[in-house]
Amino acid sequence: MWSPANILLNRLRRMLFRLGAFAAVMGSLLAINVYGDYNFFIVTCVVGAVYIIFGASIEKWCEKNILYSKSVNVPSRDLHDQRRYKTYPSANANSWYHFVDSDALKNEGVIEFRALGRVFVLWRDSNGKPVCQDAFCIHQGANLGVGGVVEDNCIVCPFHKWKFDSEGTVTEIPYLKDPTGCSGLKNRKQKTYPCMDWNGLLLVYFHVDNKDPEFYPPEYVTEEFKKDNWQPHMKWDVGFFTFSPVDWVDQAGDHAHFQTLHADFMIPWTNLRFPDWFYRLIPVGICHTCITYRGDDKEWAEEVKNTGWGAVGKHLLFFTDLAGLTWKRKPMLTTLSPTKEMFVGPGMILFHIPFTIGTIKVFVTTTPVDGGSILRVRTWVDGRVVRNPLIKALAVVLTGISASQLNADVSILENKIRLRKPLIQPFDGPYNRVNTWLKQFYSESSSTNGYSCDAYKNDW
Ligand code: FES
Ligand SMILES: [Fe+2]
Repeated sequence: MWSPANILLNRLRRMLFRLGAFAAVMGSLLAINVYGDYNFFIVTCVVGAVYIIFGASIEKWCEKNILYSKSVNVPSRDLHDQRRYKTYPSANANSWYHFVDSDALKNEGVIEFRALGRVFVLWRDSNGKPVCQDAFCIHQGANLGVGGVVEDNCIVCPFHKWKFDSEGTVTEIPYLKDPTGCSGLKNRKQKTYPCMDWNGLLLVYFHVDNKDPEFYPPEYVTEEFKKDNWQPHMKWDVGFFTFSPVDWVDQAGDHAHFQTLHADFMIPWTNLRFPDWFYRLIPVGICHTCITYRGDDKEWAEEVKNTGWGAVGKHLLFFTDLAGLTWKRKPMLTTLSPTKEMFVGPGMILFHIPFTIGTIKVFVTTTPVDGGSILRVRTWVDGRVVRNPLIKALAVVLTGISASQLNADVSILENKIRLRKPLIQPFDGPYNRVNTWLKQFYSESSSTNGYSCDAYKNDW
């Protein structure tokens, strides 16, 4: 908002500045080059000084005494977000998380990765198997991820060159003949986390109480990829957001928002609706029919048996959505596509989107980092799409439709709180069932890990 006082004040400021600058330039030129007269120089200085001294005072006086619009943007929203997070269970649930892409970690490479309130180092052993360890060396705390190198199937600390194998055992200390004989090192290991490559994603299992993995990502995806000659298609780092993986889990139990937030057909790869005249001319929209299954539901086990697709397991959550286009709000049956989403723990979702021309799989990963989460999307396409460049190009557009829908959630999730007792109605969806599914990813120390988790301590 601009009030007349704002405009006047800005004009005055600009005028004074120009006058001052003009006088300074002219005065200096005349004084030094033409007249050799220092009076001009003095005048220049005086004008400049008047501008500097009184310009600021006038502004201050106006700010205090004249009523005009000022910026109401709060400079930082950190405190707001911290309060918001307290309404959530910890973002750092016990689960598998996408750290980096598998191809980003080369054989001799070392990557430092900060997430889940910790700092990790990633490297590969001589078999190419990924290794994830605490970045801070148990000797004197140097960061293995910054300057550490891989040598003899070990990571070497940049500081005193201690060597750690993929189990975290100290195998060599340059200034000690036999580190295994050193009593101070008995039972001391560099902490090592379960880590694996899974369809192009390098995953790490995090458990706040340092327990072994309670589950592994299902293998059927890799088998399916091999069988139908799938190939990676697109990579999209959506960005850093002030939301938690928990937010996406909640979405699987909130069927109602699909009819409101995800009902508009948007310009693919944008957050934009088409102009209104477009919808009047071409009245398209999107429809959804959703069912959520927990991975250990009997009905889901039946479905897997009948279709031969998917996996069962209590750490998985499936969400099926018969999605398609509508014309004048009525579904166009030929466009309906039985989309299936699988949650692998709270941090990863795999969308399976079959179209008549081919199928797209979309990995959507949410990895908690300081202050929020990073959201990344990786897509794969089946052999039919791979073989036909035209269909491959079309797959980019179709992926863009999903991308726009995904993006529609972002601003809601970045700003919402999580109510202890939301006013859930039967038509909202199985919010409570999904919430119960989520609880299994928390253990004793979850409430003290990362952001405090009041909701977990109480009746959540
Ligand atoms: S700090 Fe790592 S070897 Fe000393
Ligand atoms: Fe959504």
